[in-house]
Amino acid sequence: MSHDSEPEMTVLLESDWASGSLVDDVRRGLTRHPRTLPPRWLYDDRGSGLFDEITRLPEYYPFSAERSILQAQADEIVVASGATTLVELGSGTSEKTRLLLDAFTRNGQLTRFVPIDVSEGTLRDAATQIASAYPGVEVAGVVGDFTLHLAHLPRGGRRMVAFLGGTIGNLYLEERTAFLGALADVLEPGDSVLLGTDLVKSADRLIAAYNDSAGVTEQFIRNTLTVVNRELGADFDQAGFSYVPFWDAHMERMDLRLRSEVPQRVTVPGADLVVDLAVGEEIRIEISTKFRVSRIAAELEAAGLGVTRVWTDEPGDFALTLATKP
Ligand code: SAH
Ligand code: AVI
Repeated sequence: MSHDSEPEMTVLLESDWASGSLVDDVRRGLTRHPRTLPPRWLYDDRGSGLFDEITRLPEYYPFSAERSILQAQADEIVVASGATTLVELGSGTSEKTRLLLDAFTRNGQLTRFVPIDVSEGTLRDAATQIASAYPGVEVAGVVGDFTLHLAHLPRGGRRMVAFLGGTIGNLYLEERTAFLGALADVLEPGDSVLLGTDLVKSADRLIAAYNDSAGVTEQFIRNTLTVVNRELGADFDQAGFSYVPFWDAHMERMDLRLRSEVPQRVTVPGADLVVDLAVGEEIRIEISTKFRVSRIAAELEAAGLGVTRVWTDEPGDFALTLATKP
C-alpha cells in the first residue's frame, strides 16, 4: 500500500511543557545535593544539532558501533521480531533506524513507523524525510516524553519498540526500572523491545568519547544552562563554570557535570528560585551508564520481558538486545 508522503503528527506535550515542566525539574534538581538537571532539557533545536555533530566525532564510538550491528543484523532482527509496526523511542534523526526500515522493506512486513521524541523540530524533519523515502509505510510521529506517554503508543498489529543509541543509560536505575516496567505493561504478548546499550570498556576510551578534542560534547552539556536561561529567565553565566566529565567506576557510568569556578548567585525568576553556588560546587547534567550483557538481561527479565537474542559488534563495544513480552 502507498501512503501520502506527509507524516501524521500527534503532539502529546502541552504547549507550556518547556517552561512548565522545566520549573518543577529546576526546583527539584537545583535544591538538592548533588545538584542535577534532567537530560531531556539538553535537546532543544541547538542541543539536537549538537548531538548530531557528536555522532560524527571520531571519539564518539557508540553511534558507529551500534550502526555496525544494525548493518550486519537488521534482517535477522526484523525476522525475529515479526513486527508490522516499528515504534522508536527517543528517535532523534532516526538515521540508524533506516537500516531497520530497509530490512523491513526487503521482507515487506512493515505497515507503520511511529517515532517518538521530545525534540519537535528534529522529529518533524526526520518523519517527513522517512515518509518520503519509505512510501509503503505509514509514518505517525509523536511529540512526547517516553517516561510519561508510553500508554499512548498506537495499538494493533505486532509491534517492535526500538530504543537505540544507549539512551536508556541516561536514566538513573530507579528511572530505568520504572521505564522498563511501564513499557512491559503496555506491550501485548508477542510484541518486542530492541534495546541499544553501550558496554563497559576502558576508562580512557570512555572519557575521550565524552571529552572530545573539538569540544562539541562540552557545548552540548553547557547548552542546558542556555535552555534554563531562555525558558525561565535565569542568569547562568557560562564563564563561571567548567566542564567536568568523569568515569564513575563504582556506578559504571560517565558522569557529566558543570563546576562552579567562582562563588556565584544564580537567579531563576521563572522558577522563583535563587541558588548560591560555592567554588567547586557541581551540577550534574547527565549520566551515561555503561552495561554488561548479563545486567541488561537481568533488568529486562525483571520487567517481565524475555530476552530472545543479543547481538554485539566485533570489538564488544555495544549491544543490541531483543526481548519479547511472553
Ligand atoms: N536514537 C537516536 C538519538 C539518540 S539522542 C540515536 O540513537 O542516535 C537521544 C534522543 O532522545 C534525542 O533525540 C532526545 O530529544 C530524545 N529524548 C531525550 N529524553 C527524552 C524523553 N524523556 N522522551 C522522549 N525523547 C527524549
Ligand atoms: C543519547 N545518549 C545515549 C548520549 C550518551 O552517549 O549518553 C548522549 C550524550 N551525552 C554526551 N554525549 C552524548
